[in-house]
Amino acid sequence: MNKKFKAISLLLVVMVFATIMAACGKDGSGGGSDVSVGIVLPTKDEPRWVQDEQRFKDALSGTKYTTEILFSQGSSAKEKENVETLINKGIDVLIICPQDGAAAGAAVEAAKKEGIKVIAYDRLITDTDAVDYYVTFDSEAVGAAQAKYLVDNAKGAGQPLYLYAGAATDNNAFLFFAGAWKVLQPKIADGTFAIANSSEAVALKDKAELSRDELSKIIGQVTTNWDPNEAKNKAQTHLTSAAANAKGDVLILAPNDGTARAIADVFGSDSAVSSFVVTGQDAEKASVQYIIDSKQSMTVFKDVRTLVKDAMGMAVTLLDGGSPETTGSYENGKIDVPAKQTDVIVVNKANVKAELVESDYYKAADFTGLE
Ligand code: BGC
Repeated sequence: MNKKFKAISLLLVVMVFATIMAACGKDGSGGGSDVSVGIVLPTKDEPRWVQDEQRFKDALSGTKYTTEILFSQGSSAKEKENVETLINKGIDVLIICPQDGAAAGAAVEAAKKEGIKVIAYDRLITDTDAVDYYVTFDSEAVGAAQAKYLVDNAKGAGQPLYLYAGAATDNNAFLFFAGAWKVLQPKIADGTFAIANSSEAVALKDKAELSRDELSKIIGQVTTNWDPNEAKNKAQTHLTSAAANAKGDVLILAPNDGTARAIADVFGSDSAVSSFVVTGQDAEKASVQYIIDSKQSMTVFKDVRTLVKDAMGMAVTLLDGGSPETTGSYENGKIDVPAKQTDVIVVNKANVKAELVESDYYKAADFTGLE
């Protein structure tokens, strides 16, 4: 081989290598094709988010956009890593449901720096200006619907009321509780309900609207951290120390389905509890079965198909260079984030079939004893 030929060969090799590297994405490690929309969800351990993953997949089949869904498994560090992975794959839009609303600030700021549009999904990202849009259900209405159910199904005066809340790192936990409090508080103040498990709530019983700090105090005391095990342990502790007049016919504000089932199991196995009404949220299949079996009283159905459609609709509008439609805004501690909000539906034994089966959300075969 002569020298000139060798040099040309080497040049060719370098050129081919450079072309391959360019096709591999920004870090040179990707699989070739760019991802246009990155989706980050909080955990695979709760059916709610697995449901969202499935609905995203259903919505995406047949579209021209490439997407990738990653789970953060309850860790803000993993969440940040996921966002970085997606940035390196060249995403233009990030749809993210934060594990911890404040901690996610760093991850979305990194995305923003790369010119990526950020859509907060279901949970707001707080204390940062790096969120462009928010797609959400009407979370205050979720809490208000749970509370209204308790009010509508109350028996007599001075009825024991047990309060439980979501994780304090989730802005939604505040919205749910604030929505519930507005409806419950007049009944607590006039003695219709007697709070059984929160001295902080008792201390605030005459306040119609609570500040964030006041909500924090109550949530700090009755949080489940969205963990059914923690909910179960707390409920057991509460019932162990409850006086006789805090048992009998009781009312329970449980923040979501996973925690509702855990709490219902504990109350259901206490012989001094003669009846209980317990709320929920998410219409998880296991809770739908509990409702059919009269072990959980209600759930708040949040049609994830709509949320996914709104989030993807926004992403596509952004990819096409447009500006998405919004219906209002949410203050996140730093800016007003333009938001698109969806209504929720109350489901109990009476309408479970119409709302969840006849709407094709679930199949009748998923349940037993459905009438
Ligand atoms: C969601 C609920 C969910 C909860 C626990 C909230 O932010 O809105 O649907 O049950 O988190 O994951």
